[in-house]
Parts: sequence; C-alpha cells; structure tokens
Amino acid sequence: MLKQNILIFPNPDDLARAAAKKIVAMSENTVLQGRIFSLALAGGDTPQTLYRLLAQPPYVNQLPWSQMHFFWGDERCVSPDDPESNYGQARRTILVKELVPEGNVHRIRGEMEPIKAAQDYAVQLRTFAEESLAWPRIDLVLLGMGADGHTASLFPNQISAEKWDSPTLAVTANYQGRPANRVTLTPLVFNSAHHIIFLVTGKSKAKALAAVLGNTYDPKRWPVQRIHPSRGSVMWMVDEDAASQLSGDIN
Ligand code: 6PG
Repeated sequence: MLKQNILIFPNPDDLARAAAKKIVAMSENTVLQGRIFSLALAGGDTPQTLYRLLAQPPYVNQLPWSQMHFFWGDERCVSPDDPESNYGQARRTILVKELVPEGNVHRIRGEMEPIKAAQDYAVQLRTFAEESLAWPRIDLVLLGMGADGHTASLFPNQISAEKWDSPTLAVTANYQGRPANRVTLTPLVFNSAHHIIFLVTGKSKAKALAAVLGNTYDPKRWPVQRIHPSRGSVMWMVDEDAASQLSGDIN
C-alpha cells in the first residue's frame, strides 16, 4: 500500500481533542476561502466523544456553524429518533440546535424503505453537485472502521464493483447486533472528497488495522482499502491500542 499518514495517540480522549482541533482549522480555512465547509459524519461509537467535544467550549465557539453543511457517510435504516440512528446520535451530540441552521443538515432518511432512502439521498447530493460529478466534493469525510475492515456500510465480500455507478447504495449487513438495513455512500463519493479522516480506537481493531495498512491490497476482504481519494488526503487517527499490531515500517 501507499505510505499512509498515520497519527497515533495514547488514548481516545487525546485523539478526539486532536481531531477537534483539525476540524476547527480545516473549517476556518475553507470558510476563509469563501466556501461553505461540508462535513460527512461517521456513525458508530468511536466519533461520539469528538462530536460531544465539538459542541462544547472552546470548539463550539471556534467553528463556523452557519457555514457548515452536514452529510452522512452512512445510515442505519431506523427512524431518526431511534437510539441506533446515526443522524439521531449526531442530534444528541454535535448538532447544537440554535447554531446549525436546519437547511444545513442533509440526513439520509433512515425511516424510508432502504432503496428509496438511497435514491432520495442521491437526489439530495445532486443539489450540491460539483464539477462534472453528480455529488459534492465533500471537504471532510469522517470514517470509522469495524473490526472486520468495513467502513461506512461497505462490508467485506459484499459490494461488487459494478454497483458503483451510483453515489449511494442500500445494503444489508449484520454487525454486532446493529440494524442490518443500511444506506451508504459509495467509494465514488468518498474518493472525490477533499480530506478523509479515519478515527479508529481499541484493541479489537488492531488486527484489521494492521491488515488494512499492510502490504496486501485485498479490498473485497478489507473494504476500507477502497478509500483512496484521487485528489484528496487521507489521515488515520488511531489510538495506541488500535495501533498495537502495526509493523514499525508502516508509519
Ligand atoms: C455505522 C458506521 C460504521 C462504523 C464502524 C465503527 O453506522 O455503523 O458508520 O462504519 O463507523 O462500524 O463503529 P464503532 O466506532 O462503533 O467501532
């Protein structure tokens, strides 16, 4: 694999603080250039500390909220008030009501039938389409990784390359008892982003992380390897537990 940009932190809290600072810097920079800052959120437990931090001082006072637009890398097909909804989680953490205009929140409608929800999101993305694409080049995509090497809802041995003529996809996958019906952005969208940051913590991810960042390219087995933006950057922010099986020559 290409040499990766990997930052290793002693613990998840330090990682979340560093990620918060990065998001402040990136969003300030983008807004200073006269553009809106688009941010795609990840689901799962790992980013929740970061989301809560961003909604608290000092970060809450540093972010250009009114010029931030929120998207999602994937959604579980449940209603928005279900505890398992990625949008619902963000509502309870990062999306401070009085700061984020409703029109800046572009959620995947998990309450719809999955194929319809995927189509609906493709239409929403088209509204922000840039260049010759049918979707926006998102400024920053936050992604997690499962212990099986999935990211967003791109699961092992599941997505066939020929399906990626669409920016969104309805998928079914069982993982840790979480809702199986999901809608995900596809690599078409991820790989046209400006920046991707993976947030990965915990010993349970160590084996997958070592494989994903190792020398063997096997994206069917490790779907996270499909993420390599053509004109964007990728950064891995991981804690020492997740990094514990990385070989010395990776970083
Ligand atoms: C989801 C995700 C998914 C998640 C990983 C990691 O909605 O489930 O977006 O890809 O990021 O499963 O989840 P954890 O952070 O909980 O380990």
